[in-house]
Amino acid sequence: MDAIRVRGGNRLKGRIVVGGAKNAALPLLAATLLSDGESRLRNVPRLRDVGTLGALLEVLGRVVTIDKDTVTVGLSSEGSGVEAPYDLVRQMRASVLVLGPLVARFGNAKVSLPGGCAIGARPIDQHLKGLECLGARISVEHGYVLAEANRLVGAEIVFDLPTVTGTENLMMAAALAKGRSTLVNCAREPEVEELGRALNKMGARVSGAGTAVIHVDGSDELLPLDHAVMPDRIEAGTFMAAVGAAGGEIILDGAPLEELEPVVAKFRQAGVEIERHGSDITIGRHGPLKSVDATTAPHPGFPTDMQAQLMAMMCRAEGRAVLTETIFENRFMHVPELQRMGARIEIRHNTALVEGVLGLSGAAVMATDLRASASLVVAGLVAEGDTLVRRVYHLDRGYETIEKKLGGVGADVKRVRAEGNP
Ligand code: EPZ
Repeated sequence: MDAIRVRGGNRLKGRIVVGGAKNAALPLLAATLLSDGESRLRNVPRLRDVGTLGALLEVLGRVVTIDKDTVTVGLSSEGSGVEAPYDLVRQMRASVLVLGPLVARFGNAKVSLPGGCAIGARPIDQHLKGLECLGARISVEHGYVLAEANRLVGAEIVFDLPTVTGTENLMMAAALAKGRSTLVNCAREPEVEELGRALNKMGARVSGAGTAVIHVDGSDELLPLDHAVMPDRIEAGTFMAAVGAAGGEIILDGAPLEELEPVVAKFRQAGVEIERHGSDITIGRHGPLKSVDATTAPHPGFPTDMQAQLMAMMCRAEGRAVLTETIFENRFMHVPELQRMGARIEIRHNTALVEGVLGLSGAAVMATDLRASASLVVAGLVAEGDTLVRRVYHLDRGYETIEKKLGGVGADVKRVRAEGNP
C-alpha cells in the first residue's frame, strides 16, 4: 500500500502550477449528461474522483476518453442508462450530481444513496426536496433514490441551508425544465459560478450563479460543452499552507486569488506574504508565524476545505489559535494524528484550541479523509525527522501528484510502499 514519506525541515523555493479544480470538474462532467453531443473538458485534474465519475458516466451509456488533462464525453451506441450503482456512488458521494441531469434529461433516474462519510452524515434531503419542487416524484427504495417526471417544470426552490452540490444538482435539473426556476439561499462557491458559466455555454439561461439567488430559464435542448476547468483554489490554498508552515518563497502559477480572499486575508494575518507580480503570485514566509482564529462558513466565509491545513500551520505558530468548524460535524479527524506529532490541540465541541509549539516530531500517521491527509503532509514539512502518511488514497482523491509538486520546490516528500496493514 502506498504511503507518503515527508522529511521535515526544508524551506520551500521554486514554482508550482495549480491544477484544475476537482470540485468544478465533477459537476461539469455530470452536466455533460444534459446533452447528446460530444462534450470536451480541458484542464481536468488527473484524480481518483475524476476517474470514478468517468466510470459512472460509462455505466450511464457515455464513452469517456481521458487524454492527459482533456476529457471527452460522447454518447455510446448502446444508448443511455439511468442507474448509478452503489459500488460507484459509495466511492464518491459527489456521484449524486448525476441525479438532477438524469431526471431532467431522461425523465427518470435510479441513483444509489451516498451513505455516510468520515466528516459527517451529509444527507441529500435538499437535493430531493428541490427535485420535488420541480415536479419529480421521488421515492427511496433499497438504498436507491428513484426519481421520475414526464418533464420537470420550473418552480421556486428555497434551500434550508446553502448546499454546494445541492445547488449544482438543481441548476442542472432546472436547465432542462419547462419555464423559469428561482433558487433561493444558494451556495455561492466559485465552483457553483463556474457551473453557471458552463451551462450558459451549453445554451442554458442561468443568471445569478455565485449569489444567493439563481434564476434558470429552462431550455428544450442543450448543446455539448467545451470548457476549460477553473484552477483549484483549495489545492492553491494547501500550497500556501505548506509555505506558511515550512517557510521560504514560491511562485504559485495560476492561483485564483479572487476566489481565495477569505484564505488570503487569514494567512496574511498569520504572517504569510501573498503578493501578485504581474501574472505570478508569490507566497512567502520569512518572519514568525502568528496564530489566528478562524470559523468555517459557506463562501465567501473561510472554507471548511482549508480548516485542516490551517490547523497544521497553527501547530507551529506563536500563540493560541481558536478554529471552529461549522459545516461538518466530524471534521477534526486529523487532530489525534497531529497530536501524535506533538501538537497541542484541545477539542471543545466544534472548536479546536491549538497551542503553538516550538517543534513537531515526525511520526507514522493515518489519513482519514482528503483534507485531513493534506494537513498531515503540511505538518510533516515542519516536523523533525520522518512522517509517514498512510492511506494516501484519500490524498489522491483531490491532489494530483502532490509529492512531485512539493518535491519540485525543495520539500523532501516521496511516495513509498508501506509494509504492513494500510
Ligand atoms: C461540497 O460538498 C464539496 N464537494 C466539499 O468538498 C465541501 O467540503 C462542501 O461542499 C462544503 O464547502 C464537492 O463540491 C464535490 P454541502 P457538498 O452540501 O456539496 C448539509 C473536499 O474536500 N446538507 O454544501 O456535499 C451537509 O451535511 C470536499 O473537496 C444537508 O443537510 O457539501 C453539510 O453539513 C469535502 N442536506 C452542509 O449542508 C443536503 O441535502 C454543507 O454541505 C445537503 C447538505
